[in-house]
Amino acid sequence: MTIQRAAELIGGARRGLALTGAGVSAESGIPTFRGAGGLWTRYDPVKVASIEYFMADPSAYWSVSKDRGSVALAARPNPGHHALAALETSGRLVAVVTQNTDGLHQASGSRTVIEVHGSSRTVECLDCGNREPRGDVQARLDMEMPPRCRICGGIFLKPTVVLFGEPLPRAAIQQAFTLAREADVMLVVGSSLVVYPAADIPLVAARSGAQLIVINAEPTPFDELAAIVIRGKSGEVLPEIVELIGG
Ligand code: OAD
Repeated sequence: MTIQRAAELIGGARRGLALTGAGVSAESGIPTFRGAGGLWTRYDPVKVASIEYFMADPSAYWSVSKDRGSVALAARPNPGHHALAALETSGRLVAVVTQNTDGLHQASGSRTVIEVHGSSRTVECLDCGNREPRGDVQARLDMEMPPRCRICGGIFLKPTVVLFGEPLPRAAIQQAFTLAREADVMLVVGSSLVVYPAADIPLVAARSGAQLIVINAEPTPFDELAAIVIRGKSGEVLPEIVELIGG
């Protein structure tokens, strides 16, 4: 019944917008940050994922990032990613704003993907600015720790993700808030909605008149604001919604 209502709202959307978080990629095998089995239940994010920590000790950063990187590089889009791509193709979504850095939305066929926390698929040398694919750096982590820049030999090779203490990509965040203000339906999937400013995106959409739909495995701070809350797995709920909308 709730899924039926969500399908009706999304099916009638003219400027639908999705915001996704780590939960969308959980069924592709990439662990979330919070919630059951989350990365931050094992590590302190301020230590592991802050720019200060990285600059103080790139080896320590890479020793944690190494495992997550190999999982993410091998991951494939799941039915939740494919369903979101289908909603864009059929004109129900104008874009997917994502806090994820794994590139799985693009791999599933979504065309307008706004990465507000950057991308882990590329690594940049903070000394000389040279960029390399993450896979190339990943391949030499067993021999070289921390990995060194192939051009200048520097040790500050950082994935182009936003670490704590770093600014967000300005153009991406501006585009996301513009689309949120224009949205008539705002779909939030697989995010704990506790990291700002990304969590403000659905708030701005709702205040600008969008109907808010939250699909998440656990409660979120925005559930009370939502027109519809669906507690479940995105890889199951989203394909069901696409099926109900029917093309
Ligand atoms: P979180 O790990 O905080 O939240 C993921 C949410 O997804 C949790 O509430 C889970 O209950 C839910 N979940 C898990 N599996 C799911 C499934 N199959 N279907 C639906 N929901 C599921 O992830 P984010 O909200 O994305 O920051 O985290 C936000 C930011 O915090 C990340 O971008 C990262 C992190 O520190 C940066 O990298 C800057």
